[in-house]
Amino acid sequence: MIKQKTIEQIISTVKVEEVIEDFVPLKRRGVNMIGNCPFHDEKTPSFTVSPAKNIYKCFGCGKAGDSVRFMMEHDAMSYPESLRYLANKYNIEIEETVNTAEEQAVKELTSSYYIINEFAQAYFENSLFNTNEGKSVGLSYFKERGYNESIIKKFGLGFTTSDKNDFTKTAVSKRYNTDFLKKLGLTSQYDNDFFRSRVMFTIHNMSGKVIAFAGRTLSQDKKTPKYINSPETDIYNKRKVLYGLYFAKQSIRKEDECIMVEGYTDVITLHQYGIENAVASSGTSLTVEQINLVKRFTPNIKIIYDGDAAGVKAALRGLDLVLEQDMNVRLVMLPDGEDPDSYLKKVGIEEFRKYLKEKEQDFLFFKTTLLLSEAGDDPIRKSKVLKDIVQSIAKIPDNIKKQLYIQKCSTMMGISEEILIGETNKVIKANRKQQKFQQNRNEAHHIDDSAFLNQPKQPHGTQIGPAKQIVTGDDYQEKDVLRVLISHGNQLLKPDSDVLVCAFIINNVKDEIPHFDNFLVKTMFNMAVEQFETSGKINVNAFASSDDDHIRNLAIDFLANPYSYASWEEKGLQFQTQKEPEHNQEKDAIQSIKRFLFRKQGKRIEQLEAKIKELSVTPGSELDLVRYIKAHKIVQSQRTKMAEELGTVFIK
Ligand code: CTP
Ligand code: MN
Repeated sequence: MIKQKTIEQIISTVKVEEVIEDFVPLKRRGVNMIGNCPFHDEKTPSFTVSPAKNIYKCFGCGKAGDSVRFMMEHDAMSYPESLRYLANKYNIEIEETVNTAEEQAVKELTSSYYIINEFAQAYFENSLFNTNEGKSVGLSYFKERGYNESIIKKFGLGFTTSDKNDFTKTAVSKRYNTDFLKKLGLTSQYDNDFFRSRVMFTIHNMSGKVIAFAGRTLSQDKKTPKYINSPETDIYNKRKVLYGLYFAKQSIRKEDECIMVEGYTDVITLHQYGIENAVASSGTSLTVEQINLVKRFTPNIKIIYDGDAAGVKAALRGLDLVLEQDMNVRLVMLPDGEDPDSYLKKVGIEEFRKYLKEKEQDFLFFKTTLLLSEAGDDPIRKSKVLKDIVQSIAKIPDNIKKQLYIQKCSTMMGISEEILIGETNKVIKANRKQQKFQQNRNEAHHIDDSAFLNQPKQPHGTQIGPAKQIVTGDDYQEKDVLRVLISHGNQLLKPDSDVLVCAFIINNVKDEIPHFDNFLVKTMFNMAVEQFETSGKINVNAFASSDDDHIRNLAIDFLANPYSYASWEEKGLQFQTQKEPEHNQEKDAIQSIKRFLFRKQGKRIEQLEAKIKELSVTPGSELDLVRYIKAHKIVQSQRTKMAEELGTVFIK
């Protein structure tokens, strides 16, 4: 693991504009720099980089973060990969924590696996191009299929001859570990070659490392399996891999769409014809992990199904999980007996593109049509279709989208929108109930909001999605105080004082932290308090570079819009915009604290009122009652005073 010290050094050294300019041309505009967003297609630049805050934010698509995040998003790097990239760019020496023996072993193991696979890939490629059998059987097969040499090389295709153990013998002579060769499925338990007389497909991970192979037989013998694949290992989990993604990722982002096909050969043919945003799930049905891989680049998936309806229906069921991930799914069914590879070669690229355009259908409409046509006029089967469709609609997180589907499906099924809405709501309610039930089970009686941060994904089918943040009336006030704390915490409260904004806020709000409604805000506040107590300052980077998505996104929102927290306006609450707030930290801080305390007092008053009501009907509690009434009066008068100071805007 990279040492925390190194991480901090990287984060404090990197300049976001320098990192981004390697990929996106930027122009100065005032204190910021702008450019065309690399994450979505745009003609007028809305991608803004703030050198002062060391962050970027796109006002078109909302993507935002710091340098580390940028590399993670832009090049699909993992967190440590991004750190290593940045360290390398700035010549920062990486210090690593001393691994435990176990960690060290895993690390050595995986790097040996990669090295062996790379050797195997080179060996198979050499067999294809430089052995007689390879040339006459393998290469001529690929050529016959229309693959040119550059695509063969790009995808790392290869060949294994009929020789029993030449590969294994060569590997062993080069001192590659026999156990590892076996674990990787390259060598059989009897020390022979596992792949023989096959053309070879290399499977890469997202950063281009060789993680597995698939071998296709050229024999017509029905008893020979068509494809054999490497077994799952520490570096290969087939649920988490999409064939071709390494070569497709740039194009997927550029086209803002991922084309999903079934076979290796389909991917390669599409790429050769210039459709480079194609990947394959290779034999397995689509998994959540695979969808999440795609989601890093685009929310749009187009699935091309081979032209045999049999498998399609089964596949449709699995697709509900794509809806849950809030992805847009479109389907294209090819003519009978065709797969993308065969059809593309048959009709050519123009026709193929035209076909995709004309025949693509929205997943849910496709499903509705298919199920309805099967149900015919049978009312029982029709009501089953309704249930099925409603289940799918209920999984869509986005309400506008949900509404659109309801309209369209209502027409398709000849059922009124009201009924569809009613049925959908029933499902949503049932799902929520189950979600609540699960939550309660986990949390006993009080609300344990810790479930909210980095919440692990629930297994498919048990829940409609991660539990939503608990939002109550004080959310906005709490967030606003946090906004000031994070965006201006390290500035002076007044130009001539030596008190920092953070000190002022923390001192005033600290006692309320346990009563925060929004758990995320509470967590971030506690982080800030801890930073303040140890260093006397706020560590803005710790928020903006947090590996917790929720923390980072909120912090970046604050930094990108330090004076206008958008939700204020959305809520119809007036935001107290000030002229040149950077010169008036005190006012901004005081205002936000007052608004916040004002809300908290309102809450307390409600609680006191409830208590008073309760006590007034409880015999023998007169003394308590008097005490509560007194307390109520005090808080009430404090609140009225504050309301006067704040103006009437917040009375509600
Ligand atoms: N597959 C597999 N094992 C099999 C058959 C298929 O793993 N025995 C997977 C492979 O990933 C294959 C995909 O399912 O690419 C689609 O299968 P199929 O359409 O039969 O193969 P193609 O890739 O189209 O191969 P070809 O065009 O050479 O027939
Ligand atoms: Mn095929």
